[in-house]
Amino acid sequence: MDDLERRKWQDPEAILAGIGVRKGSTVMDIGCGHGFFTIPAARLVGASGRVYGIDISDVAITQIAKKASAEGLGNLTLAVGRAEDAVFCEACADVVFFGIVLHDFEEPEKVLSNAERMLKPRGRLANLDWKKESMAFGPPLEKRFDEARATALIESAGLVVEATAGTGPYHYMITARRKQRS
Ligand SMILES: C[S@@+](CC[C@H](N)C(=O)[O-])C[C@H]1O[C@@H](n2cnc3c(N)ncnc32)[C@H](O)[C@@H]1O
Repeated sequence: MDDLERRKWQDPEAILAGIGVRKGSTVMDIGCGHGFFTIPAARLVGASGRVYGIDISDVAITQIAKKASAEGLGNLTLAVGRAEDAVFCEACADVVFFGIVLHDFEEPEKVLSNAERMLKPRGRLANLDWKKESMAFGPPLEKRFDEARATALIESAGLVVEATAGTGPYHYMITARRKQRS
């Protein structure tokens, strides 16, 4: 499915704004693919913000780099690698975003623990993923995480879920914060 088709039912700018991405934000796009969310995030945060993107696919990362260069976006840090091994910086992120990817990781627990380390004390994790329902597209049913499973994983990484809601016809969004340390 190309981006234009996907945009008919998933609006990346509205989703990113809804989870608090704004001018000056530092955003981690983990498992960023070819940049469906990464490029809109870079536009939203502007020159005073920064977007970090990581994916295991070098082809995907090269595509984002080309798009960024064509648009003159100089606020992206891109990496090819496993999210399980990536902590870009400690307590530095306003938003750590997972776009339809948590169910894809070999070790989602490790990736979420890295996310917890990257979040600022008042930062937010946002996990957008497929509803666990049969559909003519998207990952097979048995691979999908329902909201309860994703919530349990997120909370075992030391985060507190703040909201769970449907977003568009096929997905849900879970947002979470770091536990406040006394
Ligand atoms: C379904 S795509 C979603 C891409 C993007 N977030 C989006 O919304 O378009 C999942 C992406 O996760 C990447 N991926 C899978 N396992 C990964 C891992 N362990 N570390 C980093 N990226 C991974 C894949 O290469 C793929 O680009």
